Amino acid sequence: MIKINGVSKSFNGQTILDNINLNIKDKKITVIIGKSGVGKSILLKLLNKLIVAEEGSIEYNGTNLFDLNLRDLIEFRKKTGILFQGGALFDSMNVFQNVAFPLVEHFKFSEETIHQKVVEALKMVDLENVLEKMPSELSGGMKKRVALARSIVHKPEYLFYDEPTTGLDPITAANIIKLIKNIHNEMNITSIIVTHDRDCVSILADDIIMVYNKKIYFSGSCTDFVESDDIMLKLFK
Ligand SMILES: Nc1ncnc2c1ncn2[C@@H]1O[C@H](COP(=O)(O)OP(=O)(O)OP(=O)(O)O)[C@@H](O)[C@H]1O
Ligand SMILES: [Mg+2]
Repeated sequence: MIKINGVSKSFNGQTILDNINLNIKDKKITVIIGKSGVGKSILLKLLNKLIVAEEGSIEYNGTNLFDLNLRDLIEFRKKTGILFQGGALFDSMNVFQNVAFPLVEHFKFSEETIHQKVVEALKMVDLENVLEKMPSELSGGMKKRVALARSIVHKPEYLFYDEPTTGLDPITAANIIKLIKNIHNEMNITSIIVTHDRDCVSILADDIIMVYNKKIYFSGSCTDFVESDDIMLKLFK
């Protein structure tokens, strides 16, 4: 269980998230929704300690993320993967080097094992024979899949996605949604997805969180969400 207790975050005196309290269940898919600029990506970055809150705590099974020293933070990072909004591949590296990056940075595997793990991760996202290609040679959907392979190559326990389907055509987006579902089930992980995409919500979500006006407006199961006749929630159905 991830427990977010009284977390607040502001930039330059402007409050983005104000005293947020939330529980996120292990091994489920939790989808975070809300209109643009409301603080969804910030919430995701807080959950991964890419940024730190001014107040409150975020506990992973009882351990406060904000209390971790550098060594423990590195250990925590090994357990997490992120698919950034926009993919964020390294343009100067080929597909193999991009996907291998987390393994080379954080682990001490042999070259052979790294190669095997990279090929395996690319297979999971339905990509083969692209190891030597540069990101500039890939379509948007392929880039997304390479980024997805990079986020799973070290077999994380927690996988964070920021807008995994934004900017993709409907067919490619549907493919990515299918991959996210497969990865979630096959790897038995906790998946947390920030999205605007109604299909992402309806196909993937076990639980839904809606951020609105610096607070958590809704947090509950997909069924509660679907059955609610709240006018704000209806905008996302
Ligand atoms: N590093 C930063 N410095 C200052 N302000 C920031 C920073 N990062 C985000 N913000 C501000 O925080 C607010 C929330 O940003 P965030 O990126 O979380 O929005 P979002 O809900 O993910 O939006 P979108 O759906 O458009 O991606 C915005 O007003 C943004 O300008
Ligand atoms: Mg965002």
